Amino acid sequence: MSKIAIFASGEGSNAREILRFLDNKNSGVHVSMLISNKTSAGIHKVAEEYSIPIQTFLNAEFTSGEKVVALLEEKEIEWIVLAGFLRKIETTILGKFENKIINLHPSLLPKYGGKGMYGRYVHQAVIEAQEPESGISIHLVNSEFDKGEILFQAKCSVKKGQTVEELAKKIQKLEHSFFPKVIEETVLASQ
Ligand code: GAR
Repeated sequence: MSKIAIFASGEGSNAREILRFLDNKNSGVHVSMLISNKTSAGIHKVAEEYSIPIQTFLNAEFTSGEKVVALLEEKEIEWIVLAGFLRKIETTILGKFENKIINLHPSLLPKYGGKGMYGRYVHQAVIEAQEPESGISIHLVNSEFDKGEILFQAKCSVKKGQTVEELAKKIQKLEHSFFPKVIEETVLASQ
């Protein structure tokens, strides 16, 4: 059994899908806790729905990393999943979880990644550049923002005149259909 922790800063819709997918499945992958940097984020509702412990840390605590790592070690967490977690993962956490941190990004990396590229800003940039397609990337996290090894990508078309909201919906559909499965496969392959 591999224990994972999900880090999230926002609505938590991907965290909810991961929990729904793994719930009662006995697959050998278990979400043991949720971690956030916001007390108001939707992720707290998800924690309640699934009765999963959730812990909020200050941004400075994520930067220094010691308190976060101490909790993850105490809970015997082996993998970290970033599901809409909008802080860069710094060296203390990275060092303890080398090649054990999976991130979801709403574009076809290496395009539209890096600092400031998250959520609707990504879709806005894709539309402004008149890209014919966009998609999702699931990748391992290393010290460079959005540049770790890509594990999986899925594409969708970007139609002329499509709004940010419409593209965001299409991307979210891809995220919900693929992210939970890719997490399960990746974690199981490492056991
Ligand atoms: C997702 O679209 C994810 O790809 C994006 O944040 C959203 C979180 O949604 N992540 C990034 O932009 C990371 N750079 P959720 O809170 O509903 O799961």
